[in-house]
Amino acid sequence: MARNKVTVVGAGNVGATAAQRIAEAGLADVVLVDIVEGLPQGKGLDLAEAAPVVGHDARIIGTNDYADTAGSDIVVVTSGIARKPGMSRDELVATNAGIVRSVVGQAAAASPDAILIIVTNPLDAMCHVAMDASGFPRERVLGMAGVLDSARFRTFIAQELGVSVADVHAFVLGGHGDTMVPLSRYSTVAGVPITELLPADRVRALEERTANGGAEIVGLLKTGSAYYAPAASTFEMVDAILRDRKRVLPCAVRLAGEFGVDGLFVGVPVVLGRGGLERVFEIRLTPDEQAAFEKSAAAVRELVGVLPA
Ligand SMILES: NC(=O)c1ccc[n+]([C@@H]2O[C@H](COP(=O)([O-])OP(=O)(O)OC[C@H]3O[C@@H](n4cnc5c(N)ncnc54)[C@H](O)[C@@H]3O)[C@@H](O)[C@H]2O)c1
Repeated sequence: MARNKVTVVGAGNVGATAAQRIAEAGLADVVLVDIVEGLPQGKGLDLAEAAPVVGHDARIIGTNDYADTAGSDIVVVTSGIARKPGMSRDELVATNAGIVRSVVGQAAAASPDAILIIVTNPLDAMCHVAMDASGFPRERVLGMAGVLDSARFRTFIAQELGVSVADVHAFVLGGHGDTMVPLSRYSTVAGVPITELLPADRVRALEERTANGGAEIVGLLKTGSAYYAPAASTFEMVDAILRDRKRVLPCAVRLAGEFGVDGLFVGVPVVLGRGGLERVFEIRLTPDEQAAFEKSAAAVRELVGVLPA
C-alpha cells in the first residue's frame, strides 16, 4: 500500500515543525514547499537526516516546484507573512490573501483530490480564499484554529486545578482571535464542568487568557509567533483525517445554516475522517452563547468583506 503524502506549504516555523511531527510519527511522506529557494530543500534534507536516528521511514523532500506535490492526500497551508509594524490589518489580509490564492491554486491543480488544511492568518478569511481558489467542496477545506485555542484552554484549566491535561476537555467555538467563544459549561475535568469546579471570575480569567493566547506568546517572543502548539494542533487534524479516526475537533468550516450561520467559515466542532469534514457536530447554545457566536461570525464577515476581489 502506498504511503500517504502530505504537502506542507510554507517552510517557516509552523510549517517545518508540522512537517517534522508528521514524518516522525510515520504518518505520511512529506513535501515541504516554500517560495524561498533553498529553504525548503535545506529543512527537508535536515529532517530526512534525522530519520535514521528517530527511526522512521517517511520520505521528506523540500522544493519550490508544485510538480513535486502531485497526488497529495492533504495540503497544509502555512505560507504568509506576519503583520509588520505600521501595516494595517487590511494590508495584511490583502497580502496573505494573495499568497494563499496563489499557493492553493497551484497545490490544488497538482492534487485535485486533496484535503486542504489552512493555517495562515487571518485564519477564517484565508479559508474563504482557499475555497475559492481551489474550487473544492466544503468537506475538503478546513481551517486550523479551534484545536489550538482549545489546547490553550485545556493547558490553563489543568494548570489552575493541578490536574493532568489528559483529563481536561475544552470546547471553543467561533472565529480565531479575540472574538473566540470558549464554552465553559462544556469544558470539563473528568466529565465535571469547570463551572462546578472554579469560581466564575477564575473561569472568566482563563477564558480571556485563552482568547489572548496568541498575543501572549508574541509578547514573550518579541519576534515571531507561536509554532509548537500550532504545529501539534495541525498534526492532530492530519492524523484524524489520514487514519479516519472520526475525531470530534473544533475546526473552521464553511457553515451551511448550522448554528444559524450560512456561507461563512467559522470554528465549530466537526467529525474529521478520511473524507475531511464528515459532519458538523451541532449543539444547542444558550442565548448568551448564541449572541457571542454571532458576534464572532460578524467579525469574520467583516474581514471577508475587505478581501480583494
Ligand atoms: N491558525 C492558527 O491558529 C495559527 C497559529 C500560528 C500561526 N498561524 C499563522 O501561520 C502562518 C505561518 O506562521 P509561521 O510562524 O510559520 O511564519 P514564518 O514566517 O516562520 O513562515 C512563513 C513561510 O511562508 C513562506 N512564504 C511566503 N510566501 C510564500 C509563497 N507565496 N509561497 C510559499 N511560501 C511562502 C515564507 O517564505 C516563510 O518561510 C502565519 O500567517 C501565522 O499567523 C496561524
